[in-house]
Amino acid sequence: MQCSWKAVILLALASIAIQYTAIRTLTSKPFQLCPVPSPQNCGLLGGPETESPIEGRAGCDDYPYFSFNTSRKTHIMVLATTRSGSSFVGQLLNQHADIFYLFEPLYHVQTTLIPRLSHSRNAADRRVMLGASRDLLRSLYGCDLYFLESYIKPVPANHTTDKLFRRGASRALCSQPVCDAFGPSDANVEEGDCVKRCAALNMTLAADACREKRHVAIKVVRVPEIGDLRALVEDPRLNIKVIQLVRDPRGILSSRIETFRDTYRLWRIWRATGRRPYNLDLSQLTMVCEDFLSSVSTGLSHPHWLKGKYMLVRYEDLSRNPLLKTMEIYDFLGLPMDKSVEEWIQANTRGSTELSAKHKYGTVRDSAANAESWRLKLSYDMVEYTQATCQKVLHQLGYKAVKSAEELKNMSLSLVQDKTFVPFS
Ligand SMILES: *[C@@H]1O[C@H](CO)[C@@H](O)[C@H](O)[C@H]1NC(C)=O
Ligand SMILES: *[C@@H]1O[C@H](CO)[C@@H](O)[C@H](O)[C@H]1NC(C)=O
Ligand SMILES: *[C@@H]1O[C@H](CO)[C@@H](O)[C@H](O)[C@H]1NC(C)=O
Ligand SMILES: *[C@@H]1O[C@H](CO)[C@@H](O)[C@H](O)[C@H]1NC(C)=O
Repeated sequence: MQCSWKAVILLALASIAIQYTAIRTLTSKPFQLCPVPSPQNCGLLGGPETESPIEGRAGCDDYPYFSFNTSRKTHIMVLATTRSGSSFVGQLLNQHADIFYLFEPLYHVQTTLIPRLSHSRNAADRRVMLGASRDLLRSLYGCDLYFLESYIKPVPANHTTDKLFRRGASRALCSQPVCDAFGPSDANVEEGDCVKRCAALNMTLAADACREKRHVAIKVVRVPEIGDLRALVEDPRLNIKVIQLVRDPRGILSSRIETFRDTYRLWRIWRATGRRPYNLDLSQLTMVCEDFLSSVSTGLSHPHWLKGKYMLVRYEDLSRNPLLKTMEIYDFLGLPMDKSVEEWIQANTRGSTELSAKHKYGTVRDSAANAESWRLKLSYDMVEYTQATCQKVLHQLGYKAVKSAEELKNMSLSLVQDKTFVPFS
């Protein structure tokens, strides 16, 4: 079946409209949700997939029922951007015995829908991506992990896959009964060991594990701002609590330059030569600041739909005072913080170098004392440029601008101003 971009966008828009109507009219009774027509069915990517529509996914009738028990679960969302410390916050939830945690499932939506445009600002792309993302999140919060399968490539056979993105970051997916490789005494399984030693992931078992846990937490870095989530937050079948994690954009920039070496190559050239390349992609910076600004402005203006459901956390505050901040987070969630969370914090933030050396993804490496280490890595003109671009959001979040290279490099002077963001309750 052939299908043009226009048709896909129309489908997506239509599904958003249907969703909105559904949300308005449905009560919190268990219901059947018809999935969005999967773009895979109509060869969106134009590649070899075009000829092989996936069987059994086109019609609503083929889709399993699922229901939500709103009185029971808290649906936690860590809303962040890459390199803002979201893995760290994710771990604070992942360690809790009652929480089923998923690490960035929207990765699969993006790689399927807009594989080449990882930072697309195109309004149509964005709408398609958001519509699909909301549907997927809604399903995942209901522990319907099969829904994710339409975005995994190759499509899982017999509900089994070894391609789930960062499976090893989720404790429940690395322990019994989902994975038999480790016993209950293996408290902290390394992500790499999990991927190596566990058999392919049985999505049925994973979904059962999700249902067993009292709460579900999902880390999301591919939703630009909180306003995009309003339909989910207002969905009466869900009980969403959003923890929005922000970080000094200068720190994000520095961390991305180190981590995403290809994408941020020109920024490295700027740093090395002292000259800004003419073809530098400035949107890599402006997008972070614009999204933070609109998100935080929305969150802090206390709209009725976010009442009791929104908490803003600065990564730097968490780094300085991890235990206290984590208690505040659990307070906001209305959950008791358990011992394993506290132990994890102790083990991972008190300069235990042995552990930190092993953590590839910077959960540890980037925390605590390192929150301001970007100041020693960025040149003054890069910092000056960032400050000019992100002036409003720096001010809003309480990050101080520097006026000279000396001030930038003088670490006895913190650039993080004391600022309290009280959860809106
Ligand atoms: C929902 O959860 C509550 C509390 O765990 C339980 O008592 C109730 O039976 C559940 N309802 C359904 C329909 O599963
Ligand atoms: C899926 O299960 C069926 C029936 O058990 C089996 O015949 C088939 O080989 C399995 N497919 C894969 C890819 O394992
Ligand atoms: C996955 O687990 C379910 C539930 O235990 C089981 O029925 C099914 O056979 C498993 N699938 C595979 C492919 O092993
Ligand atoms: C660094 O800042 C502190 C506090 O403002 C100041 O006392 C000190 O002289 C500065 N050091 C340098 C080398 O400028």
